Amino acid sequence: METASTMASVRHAFADGSFRRMLIDGKWVEAASGKRFESRNPATGELLATVAEGDSEDINRAVLAARTAFHGPWSRVTPYERQKLLLKFADLVERHFDELSTLDTLDMGAPISRTSGLRLRVLGMLRYYAGQATSIHGETIPNSLPGEIFSYTLKEPVGVVGAIIPWNGPLAATVWKIGPVLATGCTVVLKPAEEAPLTSLRLGELALEAGVPPGVVNIVPGYGETAGAALAAHSGVDKVAFTGSHVTGQSIVRASAGNLKRVSLELGGKSPDIVFSDADIDAAVPGAAMAVFANSGQICSAGTRLFVEQRIYDEFVDRVASFGTGLRVGNGLDPQTQIGPLVSEQQLDRVTKYLSLGREEGARAVTGGERLTEGPLANGYFVPPTVFANVRDDMRIAQEEIFGPVISAIPFTDMDDLIQRANSTMFGLGSGVWTRDVSKAHRLARAIRAGSVWVNCYQAMDPAVPFGGYKMSGYGRESGLQHMEEYLNVKAVWIKTA
Ligand code: NAI
Ligand code: MG
Repeated sequence: METASTMASVRHAFADGSFRRMLIDGKWVEAASGKRFESRNPATGELLATVAEGDSEDINRAVLAARTAFHGPWSRVTPYERQKLLLKFADLVERHFDELSTLDTLDMGAPISRTSGLRLRVLGMLRYYAGQATSIHGETIPNSLPGEIFSYTLKEPVGVVGAIIPWNGPLAATVWKIGPVLATGCTVVLKPAEEAPLTSLRLGELALEAGVPPGVVNIVPGYGETAGAALAAHSGVDKVAFTGSHVTGQSIVRASAGNLKRVSLELGGKSPDIVFSDADIDAAVPGAAMAVFANSGQICSAGTRLFVEQRIYDEFVDRVASFGTGLRVGNGLDPQTQIGPLVSEQQLDRVTKYLSLGREEGARAVTGGERLTEGPLANGYFVPPTVFANVRDDMRIAQEEIFGPVISAIPFTDMDDLIQRANSTMFGLGSGVWTRDVSKAHRLARAIRAGSVWVNCYQAMDPAVPFGGYKMSGYGRESGLQHMEEYLNVKAVWIKTA
């Protein structure tokens, strides 16, 4: 068996410890301040790259480039040409897919089995947005005014977009922001997360290779409080598309007030995953387990509040726990690994605090519950799949987003009571229902206040199906036709003809 230490020597052309610049106006440049920060592999601590550290001055330059590009020749590029560009970009991403998914694994830790499994999702998104590029149109709308007045609408690109993404899936997250930008004719300044900036930068190279004009896609790595905040507040930005925590989402909204820029927010969750005793239990066990353990729980829509019908509660929770115990934790580069490290020491601290808190609150860890430090795992931020039983709705581990591989298992009996409890968090992103009873499925699909309801599956995603939040999980939708609207303005035109 390969160990984490032998694998630490695996070389990657884009993560060989060298310096990576930021992309502004089609050029790779240093930070105005000359500052740099490090990006390290969370499985081993190995230095992958030093990266130009953007701040407000770099954001100013990038926004200016994006503004100039928006009003320049890019504004006259036809839908067909934007479609071709997206298809070319998709082909390049496909050609370099293994390199890109490995870069995600190195930079943020997710197992290669997961990152390489996102091929259909990533390429599907790019080709979906390519399709949308030639499908954007306004409407002819009959009005009831006297005389001859013709009225119609135009759909116009919203302008310069500030995109701010987290670290939990840089490849897919970057494509999810850049795709609609290119489809609609917007321009973008993208700020990757400080924990994992490399895949976004590599995608910037491929975008240029595809022929994306200078200034249309700018990528400025840096910290949230500096580069991120400057982008969110910038008066030259027409829209911010943000993915991350609800706390940062709130500061984005406050920062948007200066020029009333449009904002779309894809924030966190504490999603209920509900298992009825009539469910196909053999499917529900791995389904409910991986709804949380996938990506070490670092997924916004993870089904972390596991509601199980009382009469199967003990047995079901034990089975989910032993499924979790059987998962292989290790370096994400090992093809056998199912659970990689958490992204950073900060994330490790956050998750292990919740592990202690859960015990203090009276919950019982059926499996997991402590950081792993044996052998090569000592060099990384590893937390095993953890299942807490005896969880009450009012415990903090049942209310707050942990963003680690931690299930809070809660029993239920009565359906009306269950619905009320499932909805009683501040979030509303995902939800799951496991049942063979179609009436229960329909009833819950209506009653749950969340942007997605998955019945007898979890985390299904498709470029054509909208995704987003209710309540404090944010507003706006990504994927689907709604996503395009987030990047478009509607203009009404009236023409008096007689
Ligand atoms: P975060 O929301 O602070 O960071 C996400 C992105 O926002 C990063 O690019 C960051 O640099 C940027 N950012 C941070 N502060 C900013 C500001 N004031 N203005 C503009 N941009 C800013 O999330 P973080 O710190 O990485 O993780 C904290 C917690 O947030 C996690 O434990 C998890 O619970 C939650 N989270 C949820 C995510 C989701 O997809 N729902 C993704 C990442 C984190
Ligand atoms: Mg933060």
